[in-house]
Amino acid sequence: MLITGAGGGMSAGINEILARAGHTIICTDVNLAAAEAASKKIKGLGGQSAAYPVDVTSEVSVVGLVAAVERDFGGIDVLVNAAGLLDRKYLVDHDESSFDKVIGVNLNGPFRMIRHFGPGMAEQGWGRVINISSIAGTTGYPYPSYAASKAGLSNLTRSLLLDFWGTGVTVNNVCPGVVDTAMVIQAVRDQVKEKVPTENIVDPKEIGSFIEFLLGEAAKNINGADLMIDGGATQVFRLFDDRPESFR
Ligand SMILES: NC(=O)c1ccc[n+]([C@@H]2O[C@H](COP(=O)([O-])OP(=O)(O)OC[C@H]3O[C@@H](n4cnc5c(N)ncnc54)[C@H](O)[C@@H]3O)[C@@H](O)[C@H]2O)c1
Repeated sequence: MLITGAGGGMSAGINEILARAGHTIICTDVNLAAAEAASKKIKGLGGQSAAYPVDVTSEVSVVGLVAAVERDFGGIDVLVNAAGLLDRKYLVDHDESSFDKVIGVNLNGPFRMIRHFGPGMAEQGWGRVINISSIAGTTGYPYPSYAASKAGLSNLTRSLLLDFWGTGVTVNNVCPGVVDTAMVIQAVRDQVKEKVPTENIVDPKEIGSFIEFLLGEAAKNINGADLMIDGGATQVFRLFDDRPESFR
């Protein structure tokens, strides 16, 4: 299994659960030191792992990663796109480049990774692509670049089913609500008890356990889905009080 953004908080939970389940985990991140630390942690748990740098916004970097992984592992069967960027900017605070930067990591990044790793999985006749999207891609959200990137990722996923038709490769989005990582600011954490029906912030390991299920035989017919893990927040009310002042 290869994971992008391996050094992040969500990946820590995913890595731990899947390493314990016996998966070899190829840790990749734009921050090589963070990928190496994640890989070391997996080995500390008795798992198999290796670390590589990758900037998912760079074609050259991703092509280099494909070559390195092909050389060292002969390919992959599971791709988890977890690299992500949240820029807390409202419409009026964005410029072209700040908007593009978020789209570049959260949408173009998974597209590039799937484009380069997907054909190998299809050739093998089995594969699982898991994109870490967000509830922000399924409902109104204060930060438009993040919301647009994750909504784009969801529909990219649905559309890719046609490309992978009959190949044994499925593509799904896991859409977490508020997960206990450094990406989440205190104000949002404070809202969870009041606004999430289960009153829980999601543990990154819950995301790992869910992905473990998605990799199993029982999940073989789950394909092209937005799979929410948000305690029900999105279904019942607005999670975020954060509203821009600009047009009020
Ligand atoms: N934390 C949450 O509440 C939450 C909720 C829903 C979705 N998500 C999504 O989950 C994923 C992981 O988020 P997290 O909370 O662990 O954040 P994080 O900031 O802890 O981790 C993100 C990781 O992505 C890496 N990264 C950033 N740009 C990159 C690039 N160009 N190439 C390769 N790697 C890059 C970072 O170095 C970092 O290690 C993201 O896609 C995020 O949007 C998070």
